[in-house]
Amino acid sequence: MNKPRITIVGSINMDLVFSTSRMPAVGETISGQEFHQIPGGKGANQAVAAVRQGADVTLIGRVGDDHFGDHLLACLIQDGVDISHVARQVNMATGVAGILVDGEGHNSIVITPGANQTLSVADIDADAAMIESAELLVCQLETSLSAVTRAIEIAQQSGVPVIFNPSPMQPLSAELLRMVDFLIVNETEASQLSGVKVQDRESAEFASVRLLERGVGVVLLTMGAHGVFIAEQGASKFIPAVAVEAVDTTAAGDTFTGAFAVGLARGLSVVDASVVAQYAAALTVTKFGAQTSIPLRHEVHQFMTSRGVNIKQYAKARHYEKNPFAQ
Ligand code: RIB
Repeated sequence: MNKPRITIVGSINMDLVFSTSRMPAVGETISGQEFHQIPGGKGANQAVAAVRQGADVTLIGRVGDDHFGDHLLACLIQDGVDISHVARQVNMATGVAGILVDGEGHNSIVITPGANQTLSVADIDADAAMIESAELLVCQLETSLSAVTRAIEIAQQSGVPVIFNPSPMQPLSAELLRMVDFLIVNETEASQLSGVKVQDRESAEFASVRLLERGVGVVLLTMGAHGVFIAEQGASKFIPAVAVEAVDTTAAGDTFTGAFAVGLARGLSVVDASVVAQYAAALTVTKFGAQTSIPLRHEVHQFMTSRGVNIKQYAKARHYEKNPFAQ
């Protein structure tokens, strides 16, 4: 069986993680419990999630010529991510993320993009063949908006469906949103992009309608411990989250995105791919860190089985059809 081929344009960060019992207030100093350096970055996390779900993944990105860059690339190679399109920027620092994780598993993140931000439109053009030949393109926004926009344009022109997870959010043009087949946003991002404050299912529906009106194909609005609201023109569905004991929510959204991409590329419906992605994301929440917490495909299937799900429906693999809406 051919593996799905997914190209991801995105960030590669070293996460500097402090675990604390609670978040400090502004101006306050508190003692944390532990400190860890853990491979992260939304692009790299999504690549690792997709590879661990069984896809062939090419990551297009940039790291610096420092020790963090060495370590992060070694980890990606070990996972089997194709990093032949990740270049090293001379005299640049690799991207880093400062992450605070509190006693309930909630996090706050500040990133310094470093080399991630140097990925340019010209770099994307040079790697256009990797986008044109993929079955899906996945992008986030920890690399420059201009480079991401170019990648999405290339995908759209060559009929490659686009999954876009615009995080961290910034203003996005109508032209860009019209090229997005699957928009994955959390409540905060959906609120910022739609102008509707998302706080429950009703407001999630309003926000999704706004985003569909702006030309997005399908909206997947992830609502943390509540679930995911999925909307396309004329249809919507809410899938409740899988209840777990939360240790750390870091990379749950990335795991959802990577696993969703693989499910879709394997030929699952949007809803079925989202169900599997929900289980994968729930497992991520039960472990500490970003890439340290992303599960393998068989672990997701075992977990689903342990929760009484018949995985036959989700394990089927048929050849990917270019138009997922045709199902
Ligand atoms: O989504 C989680 C990721 O966000 C972390 O790994 C961190 O690097 C930031 O990019």
